[in-house]
Amino acid sequence: MPIQIVRNDITKMQVDAIVNAANNALAVGGGVCGAIHRAAGPGLWEECMSLDGCKTGEAKMTGGYALPSRYVIHTVGPVWQDGLHGEEQLLHACYQNALRLAQEHACASIAFPMISAGVYGYPKDQALKVAMHAISEFLFDHDSDMMVYLVVFTRESVQISQKLSASIRQYIDDNYVKEHFDFRREAIRSRYANEAWSVGVSRCVPVRDRKAVEPVSLEDALNQADESFSQMVLRKIKEKGLKNSECYKRANIDKKLFSKIANDVHYNPKKTTAVALAIALELPLDETNELLTKAGYALSFSSYFDIIIRYCIEHKIYNIHDVNIILYDKDQMLLGV
Ligand code: AR6
Repeated sequence: MPIQIVRNDITKMQVDAIVNAANNALAVGGGVCGAIHRAAGPGLWEECMSLDGCKTGEAKMTGGYALPSRYVIHTVGPVWQDGLHGEEQLLHACYQNALRLAQEHACASIAFPMISAGVYGYPKDQALKVAMHAISEFLFDHDSDMMVYLVVFTRESVQISQKLSASIRQYIDDNYVKEHFDFRREAIRSRYANEAWSVGVSRCVPVRDRKAVEPVSLEDALNQADESFSQMVLRKIKEKGLKNSECYKRANIDKKLFSKIANDVHYNPKKTTAVALAIALELPLDETNELLTKAGYALSFSSYFDIIIRYCIEHKIYNIHDVNIILYDKDQMLLGV
């Protein structure tokens, strides 16, 4: 069920179906359409000519011919005018209708280009946002496990809005390096900030915790371990009244990975998975750091990825796809999958 943004040439994608950004006549065109026809060979054009065209927002399916994908789904995006001519609804419909066809043909994976974002002039940042929202809405509504790739052509840049970009730039400038410190040291300092400290040899141990320095067996120490990462995730899901499936969908991770986490009390996730779950659970910054610490990670001020995640949490940007668009724009690893 996750959505992954990848940089690639869509004609090279090894998926069940690729989507073509077509025209109403389903004729051979330029852009991604031209690339798909070239790679598929003349059989694709012949089949397209038998389909009686395609209306804007609708979708039609053909075979994949010489392509690695079994099917091509042709959809016609709107031509961008000014955003006031129903462009968003039509673009949204393109993704949903293409996904419906893919589901009807039992496709397990599908790859989309950014429909309308080339010759048809749809602003790329808005086209990407509509794509992510339309796809995630479909997957949610249909409880679908389909793997969806959003293929952004190599080197193509998708600039997020200038206002958001400026705000993130400012946040990075305010926080990067200047505030760079060892988060773990800070966490320990704040934990003991209100406690009385003994002096001398056991200087690092608060008075009331003196007992804690007495030797314990490894087994006892392990038995006293704190709540684990997966236990905290499951507790938070319960506290927030969510279903497990809502949580992993919001986190953009698939069912299999989530079951591994839920069934293994000592599961050690990747950082991007851990952060994705914190975002899905809408945890505030302190709880996000608590959760990450359990998996051996922290949000520092020394990496762009960490600062962007902090920014999103502080600004309550908890839609994983919005977070991923920002991360993508800044060339960072994406959350989930
Ligand atoms: N792989 C992935 N993405 C690609 C590729 C590729 N090989 N080539 C281009 N793109 P466009 P539209 C990106 O113009 O705006 C055609 O002539 C491209 O950078 O192909 O919906 C049709 O026949 C852009 O982000 O489609 C129609 O007449 C995105 O794919 C008209 O253009 C879509 O760009 C459709 O225009």
